[in-house]
Amino acid sequence: MVIELTGLNDIIPDIYSDFRPIVSDGILFLLSRISPERFYSLFHALSEEDTPADRLVRLAQEIPTLHKLGQIIARNQNIDKELRKSLVNLENSIMKIEVAIIGGIIEDALGSWMNEYGVQFNYNVCYEASVAAVLGFTCNRPQGLNITDGVFKVIKPDVPQRLYEELEILDDLANFYDSNRHKYSLHNFRFIETFSDIKLALLKEIDLSNEQRNLQRARSFYNDVKTVKVPRFVLSSTKGITIMEFMKGEKITDADLTLLERRRCAKTLFSSLICYPLFSDQLQSIFHADPHAGNIYYSRQTEQVAFLDWSLAGELHKRERAAILKLSTDIFTKNSARIYESIKALSDDDIRDERVIREEISRFLTAPSGGFIEQPLTLLDSLAFKGVKFPSDLLLFRKAIFTLNGVLQELDPDFNMDRQLIEFTAPLLLDELPLRWFYLFFPLVENTYRYRSLISNLDLIKIAQGWLR
Ligand SMILES: Nc1ncnc2c1ncn2[C@@H]1O[C@H](COP(=O)(O)OP(=O)(O)O)[C@@H](O)[C@H]1O
Ligand SMILES: [Mg+2]
Repeated sequence: MVIELTGLNDIIPDIYSDFRPIVSDGILFLLSRISPERFYSLFHALSEEDTPADRLVRLAQEIPTLHKLGQIIARNQNIDKELRKSLVNLENSIMKIEVAIIGGIIEDALGSWMNEYGVQFNYNVCYEASVAAVLGFTCNRPQGLNITDGVFKVIKPDVPQRLYEELEILDDLANFYDSNRHKYSLHNFRFIETFSDIKLALLKEIDLSNEQRNLQRARSFYNDVKTVKVPRFVLSSTKGITIMEFMKGEKITDADLTLLERRRCAKTLFSSLICYPLFSDQLQSIFHADPHAGNIYYSRQTEQVAFLDWSLAGELHKRERAAILKLSTDIFTKNSARIYESIKALSDDDIRDERVIREEISRFLTAPSGGFIEQPLTLLDSLAFKGVKFPSDLLLFRKAIFTLNGVLQELDPDFNMDRQLIEFTAPLLLDELPLRWFYLFFPLVENTYRYRSLISNLDLIKIAQGWLR
């Protein structure tokens, strides 16, 4: 009945029709295992007056794992427009839980700190999203603090308990899929390992100290990017409450922008969230793994974008980034032997069935989808369905691009990732020219890590030849 009331069976667009059975079995499994008390209260949250799409949003708001899923697909252009309109409510909304409860939690933990700096709640800023509640504050004695407007971020009181219950069900669900794999299109998918990665990622979402670490790293990572802001983190934060700078502005998709401004924003988002981590000169680069619109603010005054919510972030080593770019080149030049070798290297030689992988590569090469950076990641995704296991952060990066793509399409339907990639890498390649000349004469000692573009001379020549062809 819940599935019917929420229209759950109709939400999957035709292009993902292969996944319908797996999604509907999964949701049925989850709903039938949830505790009777929770089921009762979520059933009662579904009002008769609402449309199925609005009921679906209500349902997701009661189930943190579904809430996260809803945020990821909320801007996917393949999803029905009316449903998308409802799903964007999951990105963030005005706080519905009692503000007094959240205020009380904060005062209990930080009362003396608030007195010291003359801190008062600002009830004009109170939001909630999948796991957190956010309450604003102003500070009358900011000496030594450096911020006058800030926010407290607290995990919503009932979320951890709900999430633990759902994670236990997800463990069973992974086993259920594993033993019924013949029924689905994903025969060889590593359900158990993948679900355990997802579980770890979801647990990180309710661990504020993890987000606090990421916030500090991200702030220093984006320190010299003028178009980007990351909230300043206040050291007096506790395990249960993050104190940070208030980001002025509004959700980027809500801002009233001209077409030109939207285009500029889309460029800024792609460069800073994808290119910057990909071509960073640091050995490990951090990336925002959940860039849905509720986590991206835009300030008209400063023309900057702000990246909020660092609870889910990933890391890519230079080695992995160079491997992605090499794989892009191999796909671009349609060299299936080299693609196979690159895949093998990325999967730590964990290939069980070589023939299946080679077939998948040939199939992919007949109709590669997406741009230069999306292609290798889409291929990795489809190989994961065939049972190859890749480092979880690589698949997280693919998920980040997938999420961001919805936002980019909404800002600028003509946005072209490849064009932006070329614009970003052109100056890097120019900078590298002297070094490239040197290695051209001594190819045996060429070290691609010394180029920020991470592309070898040989691959660059292949790309150029591919274009000229
Ligand atoms: N530093 C901030 N400045 C302004 N608004 C914020 C800030 N941090 C969070 N918010 C608001 O609160 C909402 C929820 O916070 P977020 O960190 O995204 O929590 P969740 O993990 O639940 O998604 C955001 O979508 C945004 O609207
Ligand atoms: Mg968020």
